[in-house]
Parts: sequence; structure tokens; C-alpha cells
Amino acid sequence: MSAKIAVFPGDGIGTEVSAEAIACLRTLDEQAGLGLEFEEAIVGGHAIDEYGEALPARAIDLAREADAALLGAVGGPKWDDPNAKVRPEQAILGLRKELELFANLRPVKPVDALLGTSTLKEEVVKGVDILVIRELTGGIYFGQPSERRTGERGREAVDTLFYTEGEIDRVVEVAFDLAKGRRRKVTSVDKANVLSSSRLWREVAAEVAARHPDIEFEHLLVDAMAMHLISRPRDFDVIVTENMFGDILTDEAAMLPGSMGLLPSASLGTRRGTRDVEGASRSVIFGLYEPIHGSAPDIAGKGIANPLAMILSSAMMLRTSLGAEAAAARLEAAVAGVLADGLRTGDLAGPGEKSLSTSEMGQAVRERLAG
Ligand code: IPM
Ligand code: MG
Repeated sequence: MSAKIAVFPGDGIGTEVSAEAIACLRTLDEQAGLGLEFEEAIVGGHAIDEYGEALPARAIDLAREADAALLGAVGGPKWDDPNAKVRPEQAILGLRKELELFANLRPVKPVDALLGTSTLKEEVVKGVDILVIRELTGGIYFGQPSERRTGERGREAVDTLFYTEGEIDRVVEVAFDLAKGRRRKVTSVDKANVLSSSRLWREVAAEVAARHPDIEFEHLLVDAMAMHLISRPRDFDVIVTENMFGDILTDEAAMLPGSMGLLPSASLGTRRGTRDVEGASRSVIFGLYEPIHGSAPDIAGKGIANPLAMILSSAMMLRTSLGAEAAAARLEAAVAGVLADGLRTGDLAGPGEKSLSTSEMGQAVRERLAG
């Protein structure tokens, strides 16, 4: 059974890390006969240059027809004018919205071999295993009105934090569902002491929790969560929160393992199916997979970016959208193996330690897969 993968390399290091991830997927495909077919489309800043818009209709169509999509990263100084009508980020936001990818999964699990690279003490970080579920198609990112205007007091601007109960219910349900395969604890994060939208969030989250009495459940305020995330990160299992809180908390959480260059993400929607793969019939769900890091203009073009977050995103894709559990596990094991061997890209290397280029790191993972 073949699988069609839409590839959006994007800008900056996005193109560099995507190339390595695809090469790893091709290696796995040769070994396991997954029937992977890749089709690429330009999005982000490059699409602005080429077509005058960040997310051409062709890219959306490609994703709609695909079993899964991979995205590198978008953006760069060239397209950074705050007053520009077209911005590279519209590609990501548009894909999320158009494909209704409402549940963003960001696993945070520091690798033992790299505990020393975290700015936090090893005893705080060791054993952390958190899955953040960020609501991705609602909240202040998409609420209307969102505009700049001139009023009686001069320049003003407004953004709107809006949620319906249905939007909250479905993403909190995903959190409970995934907690069942983990340590069975859900923490819902809000700002219910101030925001109406958060009071609704808390109410609906509690209703979902009542449907899952076998899962431990708690509410935390987002400011307190920001603190607990670095003071006692091991206490958390699944964390679920609204769009902007999730954006901020996942950058913070990314510092637990020491580098943004290691963290993958999956954005899942509603399109589900089953696939026959690896001798089993597996239920799958369409998703867009991307590293949580950005396009890193400061190092783009130098060939030194860490491709592991993108490679690990591909592993999530194999598992969740293609049902290829064994291939996903092999890819993850290959990444863990190269790190255990002491191989490092620049972001992970200590002072005086040798660092590999993007393609050398990709190659090392492929050699592990072959070996
Ligand atoms: C992320 C990014 C995006 C977001 C940007 C690039 C629009 O920060 O995926 O976390 O804010 O969602
Ligand atoms: Mg972010």
C-alpha cells in the first residue's frame, strides 16, 4: 500500500533539515517497502517570492490529497516587515486552519545522553516525559476582530480570544485519549482567574474529565504552570492548553532537553482511516509534522542545523499517519543510537567537542538504520 507524503520544506534551515529527513525515510522505505511517495510544494517566504502568497492553493490541495504532510520551517528576515500584508507564517497558520489540524502534539522527553546540555540541573530534568497538547486552530490566533486601526485616541489594535465549547471539548478529549497510553494524568492549563475564555475552558475540561474517571486530572493557571514546568517537570504527563499558552509553554518546555533542535511535533485533524501496513490493519489519522524550531536565519545556508527534530517528526508521521509503528520505532532508535554514540551537531556540542554538519548527522542516522 503506497503512502503519499506532501513535503513543504519552507525557508531557511527548513529546506536543509527536510532533505535529511526525506533521505532517512527513503532508506527505511528501501528496507521495509512502505511505498512512500513524496511530492513537494513551495510555501512560506519562497512562495511569497514566487507567487506573491505564502500558501498557494496548490499546497493546500497537495496536503488534502496526501496521507501525511511534512513541514520544515518558514520565515526569514527578508519577509519580516511587520506591515507586510503577506507573511511566511501565514503558510503554517493557513495549513493548520484549512486542514482543521486542531490538536498539536509536542512530546518533551530529554535523552539521557544529553542531560548535560540542558541549562537546568540534571536531577530536575532526568526522567521527564511530557506530552503537551496545544489547541491549534482557535483562540487568539484566529479570533475576529483582529486588526489595527485608528481610533479617537490614535493607533489601536485588537485581537480576540474566542473559543466554542466544541473546540475545547475535542482537544481535551484527545489529551485524555492519549493519557490512557501513558501515565494516566492530564493537566489542563488556563487563566481562569482573569479570562472568560479560560473559565469556559476550565468548565468544559472538567466535563471531559468527568467522562474519564480513571484518569487523574488537575487544572493549573498558566503563570503557575510556567513555574512548575521548570521546578518540577517530572510531575507532568499530558498537558493540554489553548493555542497561545501552548505556543509559549512549548518553547519553555523545549529547554528541558537542552535544544530546540531535538523536538518534533504533530498537528492532527479529523481525517481518519485505516491502513494495512507491516502485516497489520492500523487506524491512522492525517497530520502535519514539523520540528518545533523555526527557520533559524542566523545559521541558514551553513549546513550546520540539527536535523534530528525533523527526523523525529518523520518518525511521528510514520506511526500516527501511516501506521508504520515498527519503522517509526527503528527511526527513533537510530536517533537515540547516534546520540548515545556521542555524535553531536553544533547546538548540542559542548566546548571543544566535535560537531557534525546537518548532512553528516543525517548520514549517521541512515548508517544506523542500515546497520
Ligand atoms: C509554533 C510557531 C508558530 C506559532 C509561528 C511560526 C506562527 O511559533 O509553531 O510554535 O506561533 O504557532
Ligand atoms: Mg512557537
